[in-house]
Amino acid sequence: MKKLFCFSLLGLFLLCSFCNQPGVRTQESFNNDWKFYLGDVPGAERSEYNDTTWRKLDLPHDWSIEGEFNAQNPATPGGGALPGGIAWYRKSFKIPSVASKRFFIDFDGIYRNSEVWINGHYLGKRPNGYISFRYDLTPYLKYGKTENVIAVRVDNSKQPNSRWYSGSGIYRNVWLITVNDIHVDHWGTFVTTSEITTESATVMVTSKIKNSSQESVSLEIKTLLYDTQSTLVASASASLELTAGAEGESSSKLLVTQPKLWAVTSPNLYKAVTQVYHKGQLTDEYQTTLGIRFFNFDAEKGFSLNGKPMKIFGVCNHHDLGALGAAINTRAMERQLELLKKMGCNGIRTSHNPPAPELLDLCDRMGFLVIDEAFDMWKRPKNKFDYHLDWDMWHVQDLQDQVLRDRNHPSVIAWSIGNEVPEQSFYPEGPNSKPDSSGMNIARELSGIVRALDPTRPITFGADQVQGKYNAVIQSGAIDIIGYNYRHPYWKDVHTKWAFKPFMATESASAFESRGDYTMPSDKILRAGMGKQNLKDDFTASSYDNFSAVWASTHEESLKEFFRLDFMAGTFVWTGWDYLGEPSPYWWPARSSYFGIIDLAGFPKDAYYLYKSIWTDEPVLHLLPHWNWTEGQMVDVWAYYNNADEVELFLNDKSLGIQKKQGDDLHVMWKVSYIPGTLKAVSRKSGQIVLTREVITAGKPAKITLVADRNTLKKDGRDLSFITVKITDDKGVLVPEADNLVKFSLSGKGTIAGVDNGFQASHEPFKADFRKAYNGMCLVILQSGKSNGQIRLTASSEGLDPASVDINVE
Ligand code: GAL
Repeated sequence: MKKLFCFSLLGLFLLCSFCNQPGVRTQESFNNDWKFYLGDVPGAERSEYNDTTWRKLDLPHDWSIEGEFNAQNPATPGGGALPGGIAWYRKSFKIPSVASKRFFIDFDGIYRNSEVWINGHYLGKRPNGYISFRYDLTPYLKYGKTENVIAVRVDNSKQPNSRWYSGSGIYRNVWLITVNDIHVDHWGTFVTTSEITTESATVMVTSKIKNSSQESVSLEIKTLLYDTQSTLVASASASLELTAGAEGESSSKLLVTQPKLWAVTSPNLYKAVTQVYHKGQLTDEYQTTLGIRFFNFDAEKGFSLNGKPMKIFGVCNHHDLGALGAAINTRAMERQLELLKKMGCNGIRTSHNPPAPELLDLCDRMGFLVIDEAFDMWKRPKNKFDYHLDWDMWHVQDLQDQVLRDRNHPSVIAWSIGNEVPEQSFYPEGPNSKPDSSGMNIARELSGIVRALDPTRPITFGADQVQGKYNAVIQSGAIDIIGYNYRHPYWKDVHTKWAFKPFMATESASAFESRGDYTMPSDKILRAGMGKQNLKDDFTASSYDNFSAVWASTHEESLKEFFRLDFMAGTFVWTGWDYLGEPSPYWWPARSSYFGIIDLAGFPKDAYYLYKSIWTDEPVLHLLPHWNWTEGQMVDVWAYYNNADEVELFLNDKSLGIQKKQGDDLHVMWKVSYIPGTLKAVSRKSGQIVLTREVITAGKPAKITLVADRNTLKKDGRDLSFITVKITDDKGVLVPEADNLVKFSLSGKGTIAGVDNGFQASHEPFKADFRKAYNGMCLVILQSGKSNGQIRLTASSEGLDPASVDINVE
């Protein structure tokens, strides 16, 4: 038994949050073999409803991403211009006859207004599209050979209800949980760490135990703590008496010697195992992943982790995964984080809603500091049909559920109770303004809810109304860290204006860029407002960092101020990745955002190297733009660099001079009269060459090259290889403005999960076997099947040499 336990612990240590031991507790994926119908149908909640003609699919699923872009879709271009509507999901399943078991279904998230029935019995409704929830199936199940039917109605028809793309459907994982009558409750543990030194640390584990049996019980609760190597490092035992139907808590204090602390560079994880024994029999075993770490937000000194001062180099992200839509895929999320990590990013703000649980697992494992955000609006609307309609009825439960679910993640270092809610303002601004007491009251109420469940983490809020005399949320006193969205000229005065409290930029930058597009002059900064603008008739935005929202700044402007103000704890750039919806500064035909440091397909824009040059110690030399211009044209050449004193630029081996960053500048620039050839930059430190970079004039499109991020996939039917498609000339140089249409064909057991090219105004479908290149590149996402074998992807395009790549599935 012990052996079996250790074995499962080893295998599952990093993969899942709960133990999956037969006989005690099981957590099975409930994603496969659902039936789906797009539309509303009467009676589909009944078991006997005939769904034989419905589409078969596996979850997670987002039906909006399968639709066509259309400005008339009720989501509007702000919501991504994809369809919403109502849809049904049904799944039939059998449960073997078992005594004294309880069965729960856990939904990690359904967008939105989900209603669930089991065998025709109504289980309930959850309007919030980002919240995780559970239903108890036990009283309504049929055992043995009889089929059970679970039916889910999802209503995303009333739109607009979001300022960004939401997706529609059961877009996160679903689980079937089986436990004994006496078991650890849902999100049933709370772990805190304290008294942390290099010698020792205290870990407190409080477990909530439920006795659903008919009798009073005397229980023994054992808590075991394992380190990263699955070595038992501490244990404790306690007793608990529970009457029939009652629940109660048991706390254990564990002392860990020489703790391996969790940090962004060494995200060491521990695992607490709560064992529940009744009459000497193990009745439940529940695992909680944790990290031992301490941190501090200080008004004067900023942020420190485990006693070491550091800055949070963060980004905000929305939840969509580009061509995959909102349907979560752990590998796709991991890829997003990998690219950000390589850029030096160490923080994520889950704007503006609770994330998929897997995102927090990844942040724990990869070392990111997370602001876990709850709401984009409270009682007052931002869109006609948004969550404000559900506020009164649901906000308490939704916030409680978020905190209960997420409070054990070491990556989570702050809660955000909201983003730019209208209640922050006092109306009207000016001499006659009156405090909007609802803003203060709600802020205090929400902070109270959070603190009651988690007194260990500070609370923040993304405030953008900070120029005037009032901000109800900041002035309520309810938040611990003042968070500004933008307004960087006001950052320096935050303490004199409001209070001597820790401070960070919950949003910064909001610069617009399309990968590979360059508008000159690059040293003139352009600002634009929100939506509905005709700035450029090709709906692109310059990738020189010279274009931002009027309320915001270029990347460099905010960064300079951030580095000037040592008291700032961190900055969260809006955004790490482009996302669907909010296509500012344009409106239709644009349908996705221009704010990302990385485009929707996952190709870094030039700003990526700006951040990398200052957020990492890795040597960086990045040269822009491409080198295909009109002879004689004056071209602005920029370089981002670090670890060097200077950069010298050469055109066809002729020096164009040395540039050094001046003052607090973060880039250098030359104005060059264009002739084709090779542009070369050389960075030097104390006269020694650090790096050399070349940009070469490309000839005509001649061939395709394919680069897969991974050539071996797991045969779980979910794993992904992201394959970059480049259009090059006959010498292999990327053709910078190529827009050739590329067609994909597959052999072997795999599918194309999506295609993209990162262009914000493309209306080509994401679910297709073709894509036009945008500025020389596009992306195809291959998804593994469920059997061993090889997948061969071939890419072809008229007039170009085709290319193939082989992916092994094992
Ligand atoms: C902020 C807002 C974000 C996004 C951003 C664009 O005001 O919080 O959700 O809209 O502006 O700049």
